[in-house]
Amino acid sequence: MNMGSERPVPQELNVSAIRNGTVIDHVSNEATFKVAEILRLEQEDQMVLVGMNLPSKQVGKKGIIKIEGRELTPQEVDKIALIAPQATLNIIKDYRVAEKRKVQLPDRVEGIVRCFNPSCVTNRQSVTTCFEVLGSSPVSLRCIYCERLMSGPDIILR
Ligand code: CTP
Ligand code: ZN
Repeated sequence: MNMGSERPVPQELNVSAIRNGTVIDHVSNEATFKVAEILRLEQEDQMVLVGMNLPSKQVGKKGIIKIEGRELTPQEVDKIALIAPQATLNIIKDYRVAEKRKVQLPDRVEGIVRCFNPSCVTNRQSVTTCFEVLGSSPVSLRCIYCERLMSGPDIILR
């Protein structure tokens, strides 16, 4: 029997490149699955690659999400900025990085976060939520209606 292989076993496997689509890079490990959830990646029918615990100079260990055939809406990018403020967005066209930018928190976040205060008017009547962004590391928000401050796990996307 010839059990010994002549070919060396590969020592490194990288997450494969995509052809056209979006790569969300430098996501913290903790935020990776949240981003996948927000983008409803379970409904995609083209290739989706999710990696975690990848070595990174910038964030220690990082997560990465690659979505073939999809561009994100500005609202989706705002949501990613809230839970992964250090993420980089790469638009891939014909295998090349056509555009690279850091996600950026807007000055105001409208409609995408729920107020943590149960008696806030936005939780009692059909009023669109609106928060002032006070800081980005950690992300901290203030409700313009009830002035409730929210950060970290208080920030629940609608
Ligand atoms: N990428 C990909 N498919 C391609 C091209 C790039 O999936 N066809 C991914 C790379 O794996 C990388 C990200 O897109 O995770 C950005 O690519 P690139 O700018 O080439 O990598 P870096 O220089 O490492 O990026 P940065 O400087 O932002 O860390
Ligand atoms: Zn409120």
